[in-house]
Amino acid sequence: MYDLVIKNGLICTASDLYQADIAICNGTIECIAGNIEAHLASEIIDAKGAFVTPGGIDAHVHVDEPLKLLGEVADTMESATRSAVAGGTTTVIAFATQDVSQTGPKALSKSIENTVDEYARQTLYCDYALHLILFQVEKDSLEGRELLGVQLENVYHDYGVTSLKVFMTYPGLQMSDYDILTTMHASRSNGFTTMVHAENGDIIKWMIEDLESKGLLEAYYHGVSRPPAIEGEATNRAIILSSTLQTPILFVHVSSPDAIRTISKAQARGLRVYAETCPQYALLSDEVTKCNHSRALPYVKAEAVDLETHSCGGGDKPYKVENFEGAKYICSPPIRPEGCQQQIWDGINNGTFTIVGSDHCPYYYQDKISKASKHRAYHDGKDGRFRYIPNGLPGVCTRLPLLFTYGYSQGNMKDMMKFVEVNCTNPAKLYGCYPQKGSILPGVSDADLVIWYPPNSTKTEYPSKPTVIRNELLEHACDYTPFEGFEVSNWPRFTIVKGRIVYREGCILSSNATGAYLPRAKSSMCSS
Ligand code: URP
Ligand code: ZN
Ligand code: ZN
Ligand code: ZN
Repeated sequence: MYDLVIKNGLICTASDLYQADIAICNGTIECIAGNIEAHLASEIIDAKGAFVTPGGIDAHVHVDEPLKLLGEVADTMESATRSAVAGGTTTVIAFATQDVSQTGPKALSKSIENTVDEYARQTLYCDYALHLILFQVEKDSLEGRELLGVQLENVYHDYGVTSLKVFMTYPGLQMSDYDILTTMHASRSNGFTTMVHAENGDIIKWMIEDLESKGLLEAYYHGVSRPPAIEGEATNRAIILSSTLQTPILFVHVSSPDAIRTISKAQARGLRVYAETCPQYALLSDEVTKCNHSRALPYVKAEAVDLETHSCGGGDKPYKVENFEGAKYICSPPIRPEGCQQQIWDGINNGTFTIVGSDHCPYYYQDKISKASKHRAYHDGKDGRFRYIPNGLPGVCTRLPLLFTYGYSQGNMKDMMKFVEVNCTNPAKLYGCYPQKGSILPGVSDADLVIWYPPNSTKTEYPSKPTVIRNELLEHACDYTPFEGFEVSNWPRFTIVKGRIVYREGCILSSNATGAYLPRAKSSMCSS
């Protein structure tokens, strides 16, 4: 007997599209065949006319962490995984930030341990893994190299963490080139993936001071302070550092055309350079940060947004709380000017981008404008200046529906196989969880699946099929989505995690939540 059989679906993987039935047993894919007899199944889903894809893997998700070094992120792991499955994502990879009060060979393992312990107390709707955020090398010089090597070895053995992120910007997190080299060296000897946030922090600091001295304080100037070239410069510098050590490198949340060109040239030279981009960079322009966003969003269904909710008329008015709408779209690297978005789609199609992640980093909009905590932009006389607006947008739920609509349906992505490649299969390969995750292979893959609504189904047939993005649909804890009002051509109808339906036609099935921590192997793509 099988636990669940999915019949008549169009199975779509990164390499194939074909009609077959899928049988699931004990949480894994047991067999795929042209016809699996209905009487062999305890439960049957008829997926006639619908795509059946592997569950999405969102390899870039920030949630509330014990140390709160990124401030108070709105989602816990519980609410982030609930939101993930509501949008067809069945594995998230989040971050454990280094706890610098810990020292010695097990220092980084302890940073991971605290995070895993905290999430073990929560109900999780899908599996999650962790990257390490490293922002300090404990010791300088040769001793530091050796210690970091041992610390990473322990993190791998203790927790199956095989990737780390370094920052070339952000006060307090920015690493020197010297420390980045030390980190890449330790990554190389341990087969870790080095993820890089590439922006030149020194130029940004200078630009922020300059803009503030001129009274240019609104959200829009966040983007002005971090122009495309400074992402390009940092990207180039990081490639030089990694090629010096002959170690692979992975750029996260790439938004700048300069960075895309630099990455693509390095790839053409045969360097092992990988890159992630995010839906916001393909779909939004910096017009949204000018606070007249609802008029500026090309994909928004006109009657779906309330144009009267604020009346500032744009970004050139004196700066006031009611002109703060642009703060919803503050992220780093920033949303780029009109004209850059097509280059993101081109990069997805031509392989410059290996994966698409959401960079889900939800801060309550109400907190962004309130005096709620030390991280917020209006506290202590900060007056909402852009430099104090927490950086990050929610997006774990909307990533796949947006990519389906604006990527696949609208022809910005070659085909459905490309959709699966960048959203499901490549993230699994890149981060060492393939073929358990990101594929539909009998005997080896977890039964993490998404059954979409049949693409041409009408609203009358399926009243539950969302056609417009609304914050209430997203199951996250955040009080807004940057994609409010966006029309969508499809949405996951069933999300299945390890053989159990966790999301069905708009409803979360909490009793089927069996998410757990996922230790990973070393990357099959991006490690030495
Ligand atoms: O603005 C962003 N991207 N916030 C999240 C933190 C990061 O740098 O990924
Ligand atoms: Zn970053
Ligand atoms: Zn406005
Ligand atoms: Zn991020």
